[in-house]
Amino acid sequence: MNADINELEKLNRLTWKAITARRDMVTGCEIQVPNQVSTERQDDESRFDNALPVLRHLDQALSLAARYELAEIANKFSRVVGELRWSQNSHYTERNSSSSFLAGYAYAGFSGPDAPILCAVPRGGLLLLGPDVVYPGHHHEPREVYLLLTPGSQWCLDEGDWFDVSPGDLIFHNSWQMHAMRTFDKPLLAFAGWLDVGDRRAIDWSKEGV
Ligand SMILES: [Fe+2]
Repeated sequence: MNADINELEKLNRLTWKAITARRDMVTGCEIQVPNQVSTERQDDESRFDNALPVLRHLDQALSLAARYELAEIANKFSRVVGELRWSQNSHYTERNSSSSFLAGYAYAGFSGPDAPILCAVPRGGLLLLGPDVVYPGHHHEPREVYLLLTPGSQWCLDEGDWFDVSPGDLIFHNSWQMHAMRTFDKPLLAFAGWLDVGDRRAIDWSKEGV
């Protein structure tokens, strides 16, 4: 089931290189990628399912991504994506998440404690949102970066206004900084990475939502 590990490691390095070549679109800060830290494999943080409903939008998202600035990386993602394990955060359930969100979100790890490249940090992988999906406000201790691959979505940080993001944009979330995303008529595909050790289940939703 696992993607060819050498190809995935090359692609992982290429993606982090693209991240370090950019600056955060909001603050202008540069990203320092931590050295890889080893860990034991464990799968409890994620609910794995390669038949998640949102995956019907994956081909469209990859085709969109291949028309923009990060096309080279997007095309490489296309070659490994079918072999990745897609998942949802095991903490996100019907008790704390809307059915539209659960039907519209998936994540496939490249690196992490439950990913093909086994490490505690840096974690990284692909986030897919379907059209007309809101990923409600949430926050977590590990600092995070998003590298956008598709057009047409919006971001919200802290208590601020929603703003447009574009392919090639880099967005940094500081420790415990509230963030939310939403899509309209197009799916969203992005590479998401954590710069610090952390557990996906420790992500907290905003008390009031966004
Ligand atoms: Fe996050």
